[in-house]
Amino acid sequence: IDELLSEGVAGKRVFVRADLNVPLDGTTITDDGRIRAVVPTVKALSDAGARVIVASHLGRPKGAPDPAFSLAPAAARLGELLGTEVAFAEDTVGESATSTVAGLTDGQVAVIENLRFNAGETSKDDTERAAFADRLAGLADVYVGDGFGAVHRKHASVFDLPKRLPHYAGYLIATEVGVLKKLTEDVQRPYVVALGGAKVSDKLAVIDQLLGKADRLLIGGGMAYTFLKAKGYEVGISLLQEDQIPAVTEYMERAEKSGVELVLPVDVLVSSEFPDLKTKAPANPTTVAADAIPADQEGLDIGPETRKLYASKLADAATVFWNGPMGVFEHPDYAEGTKAVAQALVDAPGFTVVGGGDSAAAVRTLGFDEKAFGHISTGGGASLEYLEGKTLPGLAALED
Ligand code: 3PG
Repeated sequence: IDELLSEGVAGKRVFVRADLNVPLDGTTITDDGRIRAVVPTVKALSDAGARVIVASHLGRPKGAPDPAFSLAPAAARLGELLGTEVAFAEDTVGESATSTVAGLTDGQVAVIENLRFNAGETSKDDTERAAFADRLAGLADVYVGDGFGAVHRKHASVFDLPKRLPHYAGYLIATEVGVLKKLTEDVQRPYVVALGGAKVSDKLAVIDQLLGKADRLLIGGGMAYTFLKAKGYEVGISLLQEDQIPAVTEYMERAEKSGVELVLPVDVLVSSEFPDLKTKAPANPTTVAADAIPADQEGLDIGPETRKLYASKLADAATVFWNGPMGVFEHPDYAEGTKAVAQALVDAPGFTVVGGGDSAAAVRTLGFDEKAFGHISTGGGASLEYLEGKTLPGLAALED
């Protein structure tokens, strides 16, 4: 983007593909981290006199307009953060978008409606995506890719559009890629990775890669129960992906052979009921050893011994990557595990990276100071796929 700015952008229509996919409670944004993350790029372009068109997806609407997934709240928040009025187009490539863009003056910013309201955005059919990308290209003179959280998607605005316009990477993408390089090239050791979240299937490929790179792998969250089951423990009614047990067993064997410490919970908080996340009514969980989960109970957080164990495994880390909460942190009775890991990152002497939507939202909603971490990534799936060594369509298109 510095190259673009030095060439001069005054009067040019610049399409910024951002990731404004923020969590919403109705129309209230519960974590605006992704909006704040794109402000430097939008501001730099606007200050330089560009006519800035900000575009993003939000959620997973079904290829047609759906008010529950409108970007209007995100556009309003972007305006607040920029301290200026931001225009909002009620469609993506229709009459509203065309006239809103035509009405922009130098330095003004507009947000167009959710890109996924058009089926062409996410289509697997190259021709359908191309047709939508052609129409988006008609809105702008230049493309700036800055939606790091979506670069792993082969979508029209991420992959096809940059091929149609002069294209540049924004500040956020440059920062994110710089950080992820530190986790893949010349990594400082000990390198400790903490993985949580619900599904082990989302993390298999990254675990596969990390077994050759990390010194320690700490497992928590819903995915831990598939590991515990593979170890031969009963897990009651905890989240379990039976079909992943062979893969998980193979990883545990490989970890042992290659000297990677794969650390599992030694105790967990259990209950017979999933907590009410709306009322946050007391859940009164019980603490049990990881090999003594009652048949009618489910594990919902790591226990106090595991918290201490994981903190000790992170205490001397020179590099840390953490993705995925350790428990149902949205309920106060199950937030301690996630808090303990976040605190251990804050206390760790090395470079710490929090990767991904849920863990990034967790550290902010649990009251941690963002500056206490080396980097909080805006990309969940994107950072995992980068660490898996995959080619990310949105980065490949910008490098092309
Ligand atoms: C994310 O939240 O990881 C990105 O915004 C991508 O969203 P998606 O998983 O719906 O493509």
